[in-house]
Amino acid sequence: MDLGLQGRRYVVTGGSRGLGLATARALAADGARTWLVARHADRLREAAESLGPDHGFTAIDVAIEGAAEAIADAVGPIDGVLVNVGGPPAGGTLDLSDAQWREAIDGVLLATVRLLPTLSAQVVEGGSILVVLSTTAREPIAGLGASNALRPGLAMVVKELSNTLAPAIRVNGIMPGRIATDRLMAVASGDVGEGVPLGRVGEPAEFGRVAAFLLSPAASYVTGAILAVDGGLLRSAG
Ligand SMILES: NC(=O)c1ccc[n+]([C@@H]2O[C@H](COP(=O)([O-])OP(=O)(O)OC[C@H]3O[C@@H](n4cnc5c(N)ncnc54)[C@H](OP(=O)(O)O)[C@@H]3O)[C@@H](O)[C@H]2O)c1
Repeated sequence: MDLGLQGRRYVVTGGSRGLGLATARALAADGARTWLVARHADRLREAAESLGPDHGFTAIDVAIEGAAEAIADAVGPIDGVLVNVGGPPAGGTLDLSDAQWREAIDGVLLATVRLLPTLSAQVVEGGSILVVLSTTAREPIAGLGASNALRPGLAMVVKELSNTLAPAIRVNGIMPGRIATDRLMAVASGDVGEGVPLGRVGEPAEFGRVAAFLLSPAASYVTGAILAVDGGLLRSAG
């Protein structure tokens, strides 16, 4: 299937490693040009160069005010954006400190809702926005209280924007389950594949392919969807 990505331009935040870089790889493999965003310039440069000559980057912390504007100035009009921010601190709701809650709110909630207005204004008609959530948007995970509190709200932000930006721009959410990235290794313990119906954790490329599809014109009738890429981990149907 041709995803229709040839020559299209995408911003990928959190793009130097993990799920973001995997999505950029899948987009680039089908001919898209990507603009990666993360904090550390060296890793970003290496990631952009690994994709080929048509890819650029901005080194910035997306949790700070003005980050979205700096990215928009650097890229101009785009065909889509993967809104992917750093994960919140681990810890159960009973254990998180006030400082950790603030860090989570700044890093996950505020970072996402600051990126969306400015970057959506850069997306051309027929373009697409995809927001990285977590299965905590549907079911809580023990020991990830901040994610349990914030991701369901961001799922509703996706639904709201899918209505307000229609019909010009599609907006979807994607819920990684347990995908083998640095972040998973930092927050998980024990056998991370245990309890996953497919019997293992996912590979970043398995996430990236689904994300690239949702961002592409091949998904032209999909908006307001919140799709799990979790090997069957979520037990609920809705
Ligand atoms: N992997 C999973 O199984 C899983 C499951 C559920 C949800 N998620 C969520 O998916 C998102 C991505 O996870 P991942 O596994 O890909 O994480 P990762 O491997 O740690 O990669 C995170 C990426 O985001 C960048 N980043 C982090 N904080 C940033 C900030 N403040 N400003 C700009 N860039 C920032 C990092 O680069 P720099 O450090 O250079 O900034 C890196 O490129 C997170 O929100 C995570 O909670 C992941």
